[in-house]
Amino acid sequence: MKNFTSFADAGDYKTLLQQALEIKANPFGYQHIGRNKTVGLIFFNPSLRTRLSSVKAAYNLGAQAWVLNAGADSWTLEMADGAVMNGGTQEHIKEAIAVMSQYCDVLGVRTFPTLKDREADYSEEVFNKILKYATVPVVSLESATLHPLQSFADLITVAETKEKERVKVVLTWAPHVRALPQCVPNSFCDWFSEVDWVDFVITHPEGCELDPKFTKGARIEYDQKKALEGADFVQAKNWSSYQDYGQVISNDPSWMLTPEHIAGTNDAKFLHCLPVRRNVEVSDAILDSPNSLVIQEAGNRVFSMQTVLHELLK
Ligand code: CP
Repeated sequence: MKNFTSFADAGDYKTLLQQALEIKANPFGYQHIGRNKTVGLIFFNPSLRTRLSSVKAAYNLGAQAWVLNAGADSWTLEMADGAVMNGGTQEHIKEAIAVMSQYCDVLGVRTFPTLKDREADYSEEVFNKILKYATVPVVSLESATLHPLQSFADLITVAETKEKERVKVVLTWAPHVRALPQCVPNSFCDWFSEVDWVDFVITHPEGCELDPKFTKGARIEYDQKKALEGADFVQAKNWSSYQDYGQVISNDPSWMLTPEHIAGTNDAKFLHCLPVRRNVEVSDAILDSPNSLVIQEAGNRVFSMQTVLHELLK
């Protein structure tokens, strides 16, 4: 593994998953890997889970970790190549990332999409600059299009809680009051469409189709009730439109998950990456039910990051 930005970087996912389960069973057993190593975490956007789980993962491995809130803790960074920097920006990303690479053995970076310029977002314009200027491995802490640490944690959670060999996993769109990125659902599709013991189904209102590059031919079912039939796991998430880029084209409250929606499933376990808008995306009754895995899932963010850091530092 050179960098960790998508499912493709995971290599053999079965080996990586097995490694994650071993690390979870013995979290402090690999401290020789991180001794005298430094992990730098740069956030251009807010975070609770990614920030804290990444710090915890580094500590578990025996490494030091620091967090930089770009623009707030640092100089305001310029992203544009060839910019005449006579405005508000004070340091170019070119120097900033190269300098941070001098201090760290791995860099983690979070850069959300604009949701205005699809071409720039989907070409990962900002993240690719960071990859270009970094001289150490880079981990995506959520880029413009993907959130691989989240999907890896979701895979760990499904693998450790499934009660039979093959399982049906459904990704369902959920309503929201704001326009949200497509990173989490793109990434969920990127990973779960590849898992050979998963029957993967995506359900959303018409017009909410994701980029086929990530759905990779997975079954799309516009009838949510039909999609949920027999499901063993349900992941709910809102996303704004990919076609009508960044627009909220549906806010249909009937898509909010309630116990009635779960009635036709195989007593499905529930996943959500968090943060979640209660009683907008998902009802209290689902989130507070014994079938909700959201806290365990968030806990597994430590082990997805710890496994990735282990691979990059070993
Ligand atoms: N799920 C997730 O990435 O949470 P944060 O945005 O709080 O890091």
